[in-house]
Amino acid sequence: MTDGSPAASGPVVLVTGATGGIGAATVRAYAGRDARLVLLARSAGLLETLRSELAAAGARALVTVADVTDASAVDRAFEAATREFGGVDVVVHTAAVIAYGRHDQVPADVWGHVIQVNVTGTANVARSALRAFEARGGGSLVVIGSVLGQATVPFMGSYATSKWAVRGLVRTLQQEARELPGVHVSIVNPGSIATPIYTLAGNYAGRIGRPPPPVFPAESVAREVLRVVDKHKRIGGVNPANLVIRAGFVLAPRLYDVLVTPLAKVACLRRQGVEPHAGHVFTASEDVVVPAEGEVPWPGRTSPVAVQHTGPPDADNERRELLHEIAGDGRRG
Ligand SMILES: NC(=O)c1ccc[n+]([C@@H]2O[C@H](COP(=O)([O-])OP(=O)(O)OC[C@H]3O[C@@H](n4cnc5c(N)ncnc54)[C@H](OP(=O)(O)O)[C@@H]3O)[C@@H](O)[C@H]2O)c1
Repeated sequence: MTDGSPAASGPVVLVTGATGGIGAATVRAYAGRDARLVLLARSAGLLETLRSELAAAGARALVTVADVTDASAVDRAFEAATREFGGVDVVVHTAAVIAYGRHDQVPADVWGHVIQVNVTGTANVARSALRAFEARGGGSLVVIGSVLGQATVPFMGSYATSKWAVRGLVRTLQQEARELPGVHVSIVNPGSIATPIYTLAGNYAGRIGRPPPPVFPAESVAREVLRVVDKHKRIGGVNPANLVIRAGFVLAPRLYDVLVTPLAKVACLRRQGVEPHAGHVFTASEDVVVPAEGEVPWPGRTSPVAVQHTGPPDADNERRELLHEIAGDGRRG
């Protein structure tokens, strides 16, 4: 449902993954442009919290609870948007999940569902978006990819496989869009962004994930999304470290592969232990409990880690924490 605030005159923008770090930042950025917003994710409570925040700021938003793996549910969300606002002008697809772990340690159903959410989910959202754009006479679809659609790191195999597939799908859509007047398809490939995805992720690696440095705020991705839509760019990027990663991956593959595993163990995983769990892979973010070790009341017990839902983690904190760990500030074993 929407709030009763006066109709805005801006574009109708549908954001998948609206409860997430990058999704919510994108929603807020478009709210600042008087957009009418359609918020899509699985977490009904978090979506409602965001809608209330937007309403308080005078923005109109429609909540659509849907799982992107369900093509009919995605279609229904677009139909609701069309009933409410008359159509959809911009679709920003950010919904995705991660499962950490060496390939043989990640259960088959978890591996498969990461592909289902990230790849089939993108295909479902793109299908509904293109049909909505046809009815509207044009529109812009922005898919959030990743530097891991252009390179790989260990312990994130299903995610990297999915993002390579997403990049292939987006390229196909861009080719097909050449025959669709007014339709623009883009991909934005962030690097390391401070969002809850690393903690919420399914995890079979034994240690909680984190964004490797340098870490950028979610708002930097939102700004890039708006730029890409405004200028009809085919591709956007955020973190300059992506260029270094891609150069190493392509130009010095043997050296890259020698270095990447020890580096990933330090930079991509916290010291804090975690029991094997599927995290947000099958479960809405608002219901995820991370069964982590550390700061436990007595040895041998595990306690849940509180997941930060109220806003994305701070990029500066991520940097500080990593520096402390590298320097061995007393928290080691
Ligand atoms: N953070 C980074 O460093 C980084 C780097 C490169 C690329 N990216 C990409 O940026 C995008 C956004 O990531 P983020 O960091 O903002 O992650 P996030 O904070 O965890 O947000 C992910 C969003 O996806 C939604 N979602 C997950 N599974 C879904 C499903 N099956 N159906 C509908 N919605 C679903 C989640 O909401 P519910 O759980 O409520 O459904 C949440 O709103 C992703 O595509 C990610 O791969 C992120």
